[in-house]
Amino acid sequence: MGIQNIPEHELARLREKAKEITGSQFDYQSSYTDLLSRRLNGEPLQYIEEYVPFYSIQINVDQRCLIPRPETEYMIEIIKNNVIAPKKILDVGTGSGCIALMMKKLFPDSEVHAVDISNDAITLAKENAEINNLEVNFYQSDLLTNVEKLDFDLIVANLPYIPTSNLPTLQKEVIDYEPLIALDGGEDGLLYINKLLDNLKNTDSNDLLLVLEVDTSHAQSLRDSFTDWKDVKLEKDLVERDRYIVARK
Ligand SMILES: C[S@@+](CC[C@H](N)C(=O)[O-])C[C@H]1O[C@@H](n2cnc3c(N)ncnc32)[C@H](O)[C@@H]1O
Repeated sequence: MGIQNIPEHELARLREKAKEITGSQFDYQSSYTDLLSRRLNGEPLQYIEEYVPFYSIQINVDQRCLIPRPETEYMIEIIKNNVIAPKKILDVGTGSGCIALMMKKLFPDSEVHAVDISNDAITLAKENAEINNLEVNFYQSDLLTNVEKLDFDLIVANLPYIPTSNLPTLQKEVIDYEPLIALDGGEDGLLYINKLLDNLKNTDSNDLLLVLEVDTSHAQSLRDSFTDWKDVKLEKDLVERDRYIVARK
């Protein structure tokens, strides 16, 4: 990518970051040049800036986690519209911790747990908890393997859902910089979502609400596979695509 491909608003943000790094309003040119060359190499702006706003909190991001997407921010609205006061919440595949931390912010009296297979992501999520002064129990787990008691009344998950064969079609800045483990959903993209549903088959939860972010192309067929769940519905994202599955047990 050449500098002509970088929009002025991004250049302005890089300039602001360079000023922040150098602590100077005037003498920031060499830092700005470094940041610009990272951007020209295809590094996502959010990793260069090192943080993103997420709903009503700020989340630090780097190559240990997926950059939270607007669809996931909107998932918070979907969750809010479907629960009143959850007591015990689990976020599966927490990444930066964005969903789990927002849950704790919105429902301060709840007990929030969040797991990820990636130790790096868990370390970053704990840093984000500290920055935001929010208490979430973050721990490493392959899906629910290390979750002791499945007595949650709300489980949320944005698990990897890109079919392995589609990975090469992703934008260079995604595939070159974001963790593969956060993207690769196996052969049909449904490997982890189906495993999670399997794990939840015999849950002892009473009145569990499940909210999943899914690939828009999987939404209809996935909904039809929720045969042992009640009140199964698809919810749309901001651009009117089926994007979330909400179901009760
Ligand atoms: C699409 S990212 C979502 C991250 C974050 N929840 C968000 O919405 O921005 C999926 C996350 O699932 C995690 N993950 C992948 N396989 C997993 C597994 N088997 N068990 C737990 N987490 C897993 C990845 O490390 C990654 O952080």
